Amino acid sequence: MSLSKNSPIGIFDSGVGGLSVLRALQTRLPHENLIYFADQARVPYGSRSLEEVRKFSEEITQFLLSKGAKIIVVACNTASAAALHWLREEFPEVIFVGMEPALKPATEHSRSGVVGVLATPATFQGRLYASLLDRFASNLTVLQSTCAGLVEEIERGALDGEKTRLILDEALRDMLDRGLDALVLGCTHYPFVMPLIAQICGDAVHIIDPAPAVARQVEYRLVSEDAISTHDAKGKIHIYTSGNAESLASTLPKLGFENFPVEKTTFK
Ligand code: DGL
Repeated sequence: MSLSKNSPIGIFDSGVGGLSVLRALQTRLPHENLIYFADQARVPYGSRSLEEVRKFSEEITQFLLSKGAKIIVVACNTASAAALHWLREEFPEVIFVGMEPALKPATEHSRSGVVGVLATPATFQGRLYASLLDRFASNLTVLQSTCAGLVEEIERGALDGEKTRLILDEALRDMLDRGLDALVLGCTHYPFVMPLIAQICGDAVHIIDPAPAVARQVEYRLVSEDAISTHDAKGKIHIYTSGNAESLASTLPKLGFENFPVEKTTFK
């Protein structure tokens, strides 16, 4: 298969979470054009059924392909758990890079043998997570939290709000009391609250944001397909949302981004 080098990389998530992956892609592959789709009309995905998330992922894949995406990054742990395997079967000619909770690096960093995972209910229910536990965590104590309500706070750009603090405090306090020393951010929204998580956890806990590893994997796939952009200029970024474009545009600076153009798009 030959990919068009200067076509954009397509990236999607239920909302702003996948922008943590976009940020890592911008750093690693600054000359690539990026198209991002946030499904904010249907966020959060984490409490939905796997079938529903699969249907949404298919629609978004079609949309990104219609915009000429040369590779698709499923920048959402929930959509990866629900749909990645299936998307690869449904679109055999497309290269997908997805997310999975980084249990392997966590086990490598943990001395105490107590590892925490923050992810959505759907991610915890998926077969992918069960197989990660089997493969990498059989000798560990793995503590889990779904941080109910946290995705919604991050969607609002409330990275340091009172409710955000309360949710994280409640999720992490018990883990810390039980000896946690490695924490996996198993939802792409959570790297945006990394400073707060680090403040609560202190220096003794190693926190794993998988975004840089995903960006490396995207680079690896593009290099193998001889599909790296030939542009010298900084890549362009275009953001689409199924929700409210103005509201997303005003949230971007709170997440550390400049004002990218945001366009609304809806599916029939
Ligand atoms: N950012 C998503 C993830 O990585 C999902 C958040 C949600 O929509 O529940 O799982």
